[in-house]
Amino acid sequence: MARKKPEDLRSHRWYGAKDLRSFGHRSRTLQMGYSREDYSGKPVIAILNTWSDINQCHTHFKQRVEEVKRGVWQAGGFPVEMPAISLSEPFQKPTTMLYRNLLAMETEELLRSYPADGCVLMGGCDKTTPALIMGAVSMNLPMVFMPAGPMLRGNWRGNTLGSGSDSWKYWAELRAGNIDERAWSEIEEGIARSAGTCMTMGTAATMMSIAETLGLALPASSAIPAVDSNHSRMAEACGRRIVDMVWDDLKPRDILTDGSFDNAITVLMALGGSTNAIVHLVAMAGRAGLKLPLERFDAISARVPLLANIRPSGKYLMEDFYYAGGMPALMAELGDLIDGSQKTVNGRTLGENLAGAKSHIHDVIAPIDEPVKATGGLAVLRGNLAPDGAVIKPTAADPRLLRHTGKAVVFEDYNDMAARIDDENLDVDADSVLVLRNAGPLGGPGMPEWGMLPIPRKLLKQGVRDMVRLSDARMSGTSYGACVLHVAPESFVGGPLAFVKTGDLIELDVARRRLDLKVDEEEMSRRRAAWKPPAKKFQRGYGAIFSEHITQANEGCDFRFLEGTAPTAEPEIH
Ligand code: FES
Repeated sequence: MARKKPEDLRSHRWYGAKDLRSFGHRSRTLQMGYSREDYSGKPVIAILNTWSDINQCHTHFKQRVEEVKRGVWQAGGFPVEMPAISLSEPFQKPTTMLYRNLLAMETEELLRSYPADGCVLMGGCDKTTPALIMGAVSMNLPMVFMPAGPMLRGNWRGNTLGSGSDSWKYWAELRAGNIDERAWSEIEEGIARSAGTCMTMGTAATMMSIAETLGLALPASSAIPAVDSNHSRMAEACGRRIVDMVWDDLKPRDILTDGSFDNAITVLMALGGSTNAIVHLVAMAGRAGLKLPLERFDAISARVPLLANIRPSGKYLMEDFYYAGGMPALMAELGDLIDGSQKTVNGRTLGENLAGAKSHIHDVIAPIDEPVKATGGLAVLRGNLAPDGAVIKPTAADPRLLRHTGKAVVFEDYNDMAARIDDENLDVDADSVLVLRNAGPLGGPGMPEWGMLPIPRKLLKQGVRDMVRLSDARMSGTSYGACVLHVAPESFVGGPLAFVKTGDLIELDVARRRLDLKVDEEEMSRRRAAWKPPAKKFQRGYGAIFSEHITQANEGCDFRFLEGTAPTAEPEIH
């Protein structure tokens, strides 16, 4: 395609016309202290920065944004930083997932309403990655995703600590009385030692890896530790590259295809990545006009080995993954399972970018003929309890629970669970199936990460560390256990989960991909007829919009009106 000329730039409509409005845009840019040489005829690069004082994973973004700008200047663009809502995973309640679509909308509308020719998206903390990408794909301007990168390894008394996973692990040990408060406090101080995202293979690392696989981030960018000087140079390279992408008019929907999403799912499985990625990938594909049924995940999972030996499915952390070669090494080891013909932001194909890449540490990124596990990153279940699907991460579960029948212990909602789970009189044993409802997209609301229900204290003391757990919630990518998640439709809208009673038998059979409630259809009809829908969660505000338009987990939890590629008009400039 022919390179664009300055007068072809979108921003030319703001800056180039000979009218009163353009006079205003030029004079107001000069008012900010820029010279005409800074912006005239140059691509305006919007840098969407999700920095915030309350986002621990993005504390380096104040410096990184300057480095992105430096790259934009070097390449002859005009950088414009645009702050966007920061979704800080631990702090934002009830869950950042409630706000993923808000950031996606903000991204799309910032790009639409301002004179942006292209953008660099700065994100990484969990939902920020899919949100920024969803919005930018809808707007379909040239874009590069700049991953925040993982934090350094945690450290405690000679032990390596991993985000999330070790919090849950040592919390269980504290509740079981195996460690004391002093040890717990030391763990608190040692588990998060630097800027950057969670460094286990949680949602953040999974989604950043997926962004690179999809071709939306620069090659080898996603695993660089946030505080490594290579990360600064990567930020600068993002700034340089986006300017060329604008001139070349290389847009995300030119890059995203069915094949690139198959690559993303392949990588998700080889990484032992977060179950959350399923919901996000379905939503991201939807913004590119592509359909991603859950069965595609299951089919790809069956043929892809687990190669990344990273917690919670494995032993190491993202820092080790980077030293082993990062995503290029993992994809190269996957060989023909990756479609190398897919395009990427640097203008080359994925295959060209992978030339010469290989794993440098086989214990961290295994070669394909000696995988960590033969198959089975994620499994999609169906059955009378989940007609529209549910998911489980078998690699993070106790294998003996993958085929299990047990009596349900039902919790009506999170508060009910919190109030009763540690009750000594709770009728529960190691074979019970813990059931949490009203934790889905509408019931949570926002489908919080409550899916790793805690093991009842009295069972912890008996040494029980895993049980079958079932909910319409999500679970943190750093969590583990035999947790069946994303049960759809959710209980809040009358999915079968709403009708389970304590004492019912539930059968999980991962090999057969089944999840069934052993209650006959007649009894189910009676329970269905007696069910009353719960009261609405929101009467006003963003929550009301969310409740009105959110789709179910198997559909990606996007807003219905944001799906697809229907064009939205460019703003009139008056
Ligand atoms: Fe930000 Fe985990 S808290 S990625």
